[in-house]
Amino acid sequence: MFENGIKPKIIVANWKMNPVSFKEADNIIRTVKNGIKISENVKVVICPPYFYIPNIKGGKSFDIGVQNIFWEDSGAYTGEISAKMAKEMGVGYAIIGHSERRMHLGETDAIVNLKINSALKNNVKPIFCVGESQKERDEDKAGDIISNEIEKGLAGVPSGYLVKDLIIAYEPIWAIGTGNTPTSDDIMSMALLIRKVITKLYDRKTADNLPIIYGGSVNDKNATDFVEKAGMEGLLVGGASLNASEFVRIVNLF
Ligand code: PGA
Repeated sequence: MFENGIKPKIIVANWKMNPVSFKEADNIIRTVKNGIKISENVKVVICPPYFYIPNIKGGKSFDIGVQNIFWEDSGAYTGEISAKMAKEMGVGYAIIGHSERRMHLGETDAIVNLKINSALKNNVKPIFCVGESQKERDEDKAGDIISNEIEKGLAGVPSGYLVKDLIIAYEPIWAIGTGNTPTSDDIMSMALLIRKVITKLYDRKTADNLPIIYGGSVNDKNATDFVEKAGMEGLLVGGASLNASEFVRIVNLF
């Protein structure tokens, strides 16, 4: 993460359960590979559905991530895929604790914690998602929700991993896929709160160096503001990452 002393911005594409054919996936990858300027200022991570991974080679242009992993390495867990298997396939990153999984798949903070620990053990970097719902925000509970998700999610994680291998993605649930986004001030205060929690759990240095990225309705128009005005160290891009030329424009902004 600190190659040549430069801390690159981390731009993650979360394709979710899209696109429905390999042909479309291949088209996106082709456009991204041809379009993005390779730069030490940016690290691009593409997280496609598992099926497409063997046909996608990142190489110099980008790294590959998965959108979920199971917490055991192998065993009688029908339908699951482990961090160990992901690593075998050349995967370097795993999105863990995305709100859609918390919502639709019943993922709890305890499960998220097991997955984070398993990913780290297998040298897969977790992109650990936290975020509040609209209701929680309206009730002024956002800070408590985020603090709690971080404390529980990171239980048992040694400090050495935090700066080197872990990324926290602040993704307000109300901003995902809605076109609504927080202000730069809102994002900055949430990042400050995240660093306070990390300082309490670990120490100030760890907190200051931990990469925090933003996700939720990122597009090629607002991407620069999240990084330059709100001070985010990267972006988690959902919908806009399926529009290959828009994703290329986002990456090339940095
Ligand atoms: P969005 O999704 O960019 O479509 O809002 C972001 C995410 O859920 O990671």
